[in-house]
Amino acid sequence: MRPLSLSLLATAASIAAAADSQRPKLDCKALQIDSHTYDFSALNGPHTVVTTEFAPPSYYNRTYTIDLCAPLVRKGDVDARFKCPEGTNVCAIKHHWDAEKKKSEAVEEVIPIAGKFGEKELTWEGARLKTEKEGEAGGVKITLRGGKWEGREQKAIVEMRCKKGVAGTEGEWEGEDEYVKGKRAAEEEKKEEGHNKDGDGFGFAEKQLKKEGAALIWEGYKREGEVDTLFLTWNTEHACEKAVEDKPPADESRHWGFFTWLVVLVFLAVAAYLIFGSWLNYNRYGARGWDLLPHGDTLRDIPYLLKDWTRRVLNTVQSSGSRGGYSAV
Ligand SMILES: *[C@@H]1O[C@H](CO)[C@@H](O)[C@H](O)[C@H]1NC(C)=O
Repeated sequence: MRPLSLSLLATAASIAAAADSQRPKLDCKALQIDSHTYDFSALNGPHTVVTTEFAPPSYYNRTYTIDLCAPLVRKGDVDARFKCPEGTNVCAIKHHWDAEKKKSEAVEEVIPIAGKFGEKELTWEGARLKTEKEGEAGGVKITLRGGKWEGREQKAIVEMRCKKGVAGTEGEWEGEDEYVKGKRAAEEEKKEEGHNKDGDGFGFAEKQLKKEGAALIWEGYKREGEVDTLFLTWNTEHACEKAVEDKPPADESRHWGFFTWLVVLVFLAVAAYLIFGSWLNYNRYGARGWDLLPHGDTLRDIPYLLKDWTRRVLNTVQSSGSRGGYSAV
């Protein structure tokens, strides 16, 4: 009795451990968030927002590049010092901008914000956006982690907002840090906007260089406590619930997870009951063999009770069937 229950316990424990190791990877094709599945595979490849800052006498431009589907890969030969390490999904690069010569002078900072670095998997969380106002179509908030810079933890919070008719690739500013394009066809370049005129000697805070109808919006890069956070808003129809309802099957694994836990819990409860009951019987009454089991006699009677019950049911069915025969009278 004892070795058996121990091995059963061990089995239950290993089932539980397996369930815990099933933390989902970031799969942009089937991203499971609050029992919904989102498909962001149409947004594969690098997407960049460019910001500019004037801290007199210097201008700085930053490129923030994100790929939800795969780690970023730089185009051509770029010195390792001037690019994010392998495995980076979100990368920020700060350039010193020469406003007179109209070109970048030097790379000042390279910040890997999120990704898979070494053994550590990329960690991410997702949550559905609450729709508060009428006309707000919802979406999801995705938090990506894993980066570190100057000892400070990095993360990116991306709000994927549902916007019908917007793919999510519109109005992107061409950053100077070039990345290898995704499978998505190269977008048609839109005309650049005229240069803004804020350069009046007083400087200006970091702001996005934005084209009209830009889908990817820079909301800030903030230092809070020990963490630096990049905030992005991404307008795309792929974050809409409608697109989600078309694919219910991916929900199954979640239900399976729930039932696995249910089974494990029931199993543990029964095992604990049997073990404790046997222990009681052993100690109190010095029971052995079948008598060890709590309600051992009831358990032994179960086959007879079942047989008895089946016979009764069969009898009822037969008699009601024959009574049906008389109804013709
Ligand atoms: C850098 O910012 C300036 C505005 O401050 C802008 O005119 C310029 O095009 C930007 N450079 C790049 C490569 O985006």
